[in-house]
Amino acid sequence: MIFHKTLIHWYLQYKRDLPWRKTTNPYYVWLSEIMLQQTRVAQGLPYYLKFIEAFPTVHDLANANESFVLKLWQGLGYYSRARNLHYTAKYISNDLKGIFPDNFSDLKKLKGVGDYTASAIASICFNESTAVVDGNVYRVLSRYFGIATPINITKGIKEFKALAQSLIDDKQPGMYNQAIMDFGATLCKPQNPLCNECPFAQSCLALANNTISSLPVKEKKTKVKKRYFNYLVLKSPNNTTILQERTSRGIWQGLYQFPLIETLKEVKDSKVIEDHSVFKSLFNKEASLVLYNIEPVVHKLSHQHLYTNFWIVNTENASGQEVAVSDLEKYPVPVLIANFLNQFFY
Ligand code: ADE
Repeated sequence: MIFHKTLIHWYLQYKRDLPWRKTTNPYYVWLSEIMLQQTRVAQGLPYYLKFIEAFPTVHDLANANESFVLKLWQGLGYYSRARNLHYTAKYISNDLKGIFPDNFSDLKKLKGVGDYTASAIASICFNESTAVVDGNVYRVLSRYFGIATPINITKGIKEFKALAQSLIDDKQPGMYNQAIMDFGATLCKPQNPLCNECPFAQSCLALANNTISSLPVKEKKTKVKKRYFNYLVLKSPNNTTILQERTSRGIWQGLYQFPLIETLKEVKDSKVIEDHSVFKSLFNKEASLVLYNIEPVVHKLSHQHLYTNFWIVNTENASGQEVAVSDLEKYPVPVLIANFLNQFFY
């Protein structure tokens, strides 16, 4: 059996009908691949459609302001991907006159474009024989070949990359890459894979050895960090509140939030908040403070869990930059804040 032949035969019957598959324009392929990193197709698709409508060319994306780009990205997470996307659009529009690099190694030099994305674009748009390795590929190959090397250590990354590269169909690398991703996403799924319908069932080592559910192997990562956020939600008589841009590097750079007091433990006592310098710099003694949520809202990111309390501040005298409640929806905000706004203000 030739692996790529069986795979492509399957793909031609079962492939998903996806809008970015109707083109080899690198701008569209690049957009879709950046969005689909760490995001499932069903979740990424509406974002892709919004982006190509708002920014039909790389120049449109380059000329947009960052806040608007982040606003359209809101909810997809990993916001540095959106900022890198915008940065690279400006670079391609201004420095490369709108022409994308046409090979793996030049594509990889672009900000935000790693091994996976460069391989995807080079193979799909320029027929370069370079294999993608994403979560789907790790799963399919580790199962079919019965490989238990962890996929999140250097040894595993190298081993799977070399194996993937040895399997690619040199005549149609773009189709092969998309086939293995579709196969992993729809048939060789993480849970309840459809082994009864699988064209590889006869020779799949994991199926033979009953190790499907334990492959691929991941080495345990460091512990998730707990952080304690206290947001100060001004509610003024003239329907304004305070929003601030997160300028620090790290999560949510460029997004907006209420003034934040981060503490080492959960705070229940309003006195602790009132005594904090951030509170004092914005509000005076007349301000009244009430904790909105009974239990902290827990927002889970990949490496940290944010235990969040929303403190409502009623006052006529605040000294921060105020925003009309009716304008709030124009600002890009983390989903944690968007959920609160929906409950509290709208
Ligand atoms: N996931 C990310 N990119 C993909 C693609 N081009 N085809 C299928 N699944 C994908």
